[in-house]
Amino acid sequence: MATLSHLRQLSNLIADSVTALERIAQETKTSVPDLDDAPSTYTPDAEVYGATPEALKASRIIAGAGLQFASLVRPPREVMFDVVHAPYLTAALRVCLEANVTDILREAGPKLIADRLRLETLNVQTARLMRLLASQHIYREVSKDTFVNNRLSVILDTGKTVEELFASPETKYHSPGFPALYSFIMGFSAKGPPNLWEVISNPETAFSGEVTDSATHRAWGLDVPMWVWYEQQGQDHERKFFEKALAAYNKLQPDRAIEEAYPWADLKPGSLVVDVGGGVGSAMLVLAKKHSHLRIIVQDNEKVTGDGLQMWSNVFPEAVQSGRVTFQGHDFFKTQNVKDASIFWMRYILHDWSDDDAVKILKELRAAAQPNTVLVILDHLLPYTFRDPNTPPVLGNDAPEPLLPTYGAGNTMGYLEDILMMVLLNGEERKLDNLSALLTRAGWKLQRAQPVEGTTGFYVPVHAVPA
Ligand SMILES: C[S@@+](CC[C@H](N)C(=O)[O-])C[C@H]1O[C@@H](n2cnc3c(N)ncnc32)[C@H](O)[C@@H]1O
Repeated sequence: MATLSHLRQLSNLIADSVTALERIAQETKTSVPDLDDAPSTYTPDAEVYGATPEALKASRIIAGAGLQFASLVRPPREVMFDVVHAPYLTAALRVCLEANVTDILREAGPKLIADRLRLETLNVQTARLMRLLASQHIYREVSKDTFVNNRLSVILDTGKTVEELFASPETKYHSPGFPALYSFIMGFSAKGPPNLWEVISNPETAFSGEVTDSATHRAWGLDVPMWVWYEQQGQDHERKFFEKALAAYNKLQPDRAIEEAYPWADLKPGSLVVDVGGGVGSAMLVLAKKHSHLRIIVQDNEKVTGDGLQMWSNVFPEAVQSGRVTFQGHDFFKTQNVKDASIFWMRYILHDWSDDDAVKILKELRAAAQPNTVLVILDHLLPYTFRDPNTPPVLGNDAPEPLLPTYGAGNTMGYLEDILMMVLLNGEERKLDNLSALLTRAGWKLQRAQPVEGTTGFYVPVHAVPA
């Protein structure tokens, strides 16, 4: 039999996966949403795509195959044209986000956009920006210059009334949801990418692992890491804004990403979990609610832990009042004073730092570890994009041919995060072999790297024990 062309193989993969999704939707009573749907609240659990592991895999295959299809059948010059214009797409999206377009459309319904936008400079131009976005299925143009929200644009909804947004713009991002994250990425951190070549081609910065030599820090002229800058006087607004962005980032993964990252129930009552660089304690909030037998310390810079304590006093006061959960100002480059931890937990910390800095952090924890202390690290653990026989398929490189093993363009979050970390902080999302080498340098031994089912990207809890 003649070998099937990649076109036919991709087409078969899509057809089989669509059949599987329709069946699972019926079995699980979940929906197969339409792009035109604009739900007032996004409820991923009601959709078939994550309903079962099989559904998740089928949707990844469809996304990867669909985008591979597009790269295959379009002339390369056109595909590349889109890639080089990516900043224009985000520029358009940023204007719509900052100008509250989605919120305005939520209240207005299909209206001439210029009628509803209250900023004079944003009228005709906005329709042009929205048309570019509509061409990518973000918003829908229903008649000339008239747009409505759709499945993608509603993610920009702050949930606030338009009246509130115009009356108190400074509180716009004090609401749950993704807008704060998108605003951070398209605003503060977006100054970095255009500066990356300058930083990489400058011998002074090309091989530096210093946070302040990253493209974003250089672009802003920041001479201290942004974490230190957030602690400085007058930066409360910036720090709290980042905390909101991080809260949204954390929502990219379901709670089970924390609940199943370790067999918490097996720990003895009173066991101590230390969240190192724990921010305002978002991960520990999930844990503390589920496992009342654990004691928890959240460590971070002083002002961040202050914000954390304030947040917990509102959302889970009994945990902090009883002393079961405490907050501690602590610099993780300095001696770790907690010596009786059962678990040192570090989520989204190592990826912020270069190898040498990461080893310093790991060594401080190693010096404070007991023989039975377990270090749990949570970042993306990136597979290579070729079929690497040394990377266990469970790490997310199990897609069928002719897809890339990683599901290709349908699954890029981890790789995007890797470059975000490079540009923002000179950090890195690591591969299994890199991380294992870092752990060895710091006196730890990698014990387990097992993804939690149903998580996004290459989110893999890694357990390490004293070597
Ligand atoms: C990307 S955030 C992750 C926060 C938290 N682990 C989470 O999962 O939400 C990185 C955190 O590291 C903290 N951090 C940065 N430098 C630090 C240092 N030297 N000592 C302690 N915490 C630090 C920041 O304040 C920030 O809260």
